Amino acid sequence: MKTLVTGASGHLGANLVRRLLQDGEAVRVLLRADSDDSAVEGLEVERVYGDLRDFLATKAAVHGCERVYHCAAKVSTLEGGDRLRREIYDCNVLGTRHVLRAALETGVARVVVTGSLSAVGYDSSRPSDESMPFDPFDRPLPYAASKALVEHECLKAAADGLEVVVAISCAIVGPQDFGPSRMGRTLCDYAKGRLRAYVPGGFEFVAARDIVQGHLLAMSRGRPGQRYIFSTQYMTTDDLMSLFESVTGRPRPRLRLSPPLMSAAAHVSSFFLTRLFPEAEQRFTPGAVRLLRMRRRADCSKARQELGYRPTDLAQAVKEAYGFFAQRGLI
Ligand SMILES: NC(=O)c1ccc[n+]([C@@H]2O[C@H](COP(=O)([O-])OP(=O)(O)OC[C@H]3O[C@@H](n4cnc5c(N)ncnc54)[C@H](OP(=O)(O)O)[C@@H]3O)[C@@H](O)[C@H]2O)c1
Repeated sequence: MKTLVTGASGHLGANLVRRLLQDGEAVRVLLRADSDDSAVEGLEVERVYGDLRDFLATKAAVHGCERVYHCAAKVSTLEGGDRLRREIYDCNVLGTRHVLRAALETGVARVVVTGSLSAVGYDSSRPSDESMPFDPFDRPLPYAASKALVEHECLKAAADGLEVVVAISCAIVGPQDFGPSRMGRTLCDYAKGRLRAYVPGGFEFVAARDIVQGHLLAMSRGRPGQRYIFSTQYMTTDDLMSLFESVTGRPRPRLRLSPPLMSAAAHVSSFFLTRLFPEAEQRFTPGAVRLLRMRRRADCSKARQELGYRPTDLAQAVKEAYGFFAQRGLI
């Protein structure tokens, strides 16, 4: 029986597909016709093409699969305009609804959907755990709001009898980052001496191998209708710079900007870029600066206790990411 992976051209999907193949699973991947397929090049996978916003294409991809890992999402730290918000909603919320409906209609045994720590509640006095509800009034970014609605779709499907488990990811660090992701670009810029400044703050990170392991555990042992947080380690940006120093051999940027200053600069640049180039990638968005300033921590005791999850090491993940980028000539 086949296992479907959506988002296989993305950072998580690329790592997950490799692990499933290593484990001997028959893998089908859903790609879009215009996806950059470098992440699956040379892999023994069945490719099907379609966009998650198209229910019939999604159902064709799901049909005949016993298990589905739904990793695809439109990831963004932008406030964006109407078009971007619509794209985020359609890809993430409607896309998930389509995957889950298709899974129910075609008799899939189990689905694991990737969630985001940004859709878990936040309390500055303690690390976030699965019991903390998302606060829709805390100025969430459209992406975070969409990921909360993704979980709502999962609960609705669970109520309809589907075995669906949510595997919540923190910021992913590791190899097979063909994008590269925001974290990957930061590491490449750092290694090339192009990171001129950084902001004090912190975030919860997860090694690519750990979030992959989390997905496998959620598939094999997770309780249907439940969410599990998978993280490797909380790190301040100062500690991250120390780690980058030791991996790349380069000193950190001398400029350590005050968060209010960086936040103001990000607001001004984002204001103009959003109006002039609404779809363009932005390096330092107000949303990203805010996330760093929140210093969010995650508690993954539930995954440890119920699933036997054992996180590895972030330093190793940064080394592997560095090796990957060096091999691809990006550093
Ligand atoms: N990266 C992180 O730090 C992080 C943190 C928390 C949670 N997550 C979650 O982890 C999952 C994977 O993230 P990632 O970092 O691997 O993202 P990514 O590298 O940006 O990849 C996203 C993937 O989703 C696919 N996709 C997006 N919209 C689609 C659509 N409408 N139809 C079909 N495929 C579509 C993309 O395909 P194309 O190549 O065609 O664009 C790509 O394969 C997501 O659910 C994300 O919300 C990620």
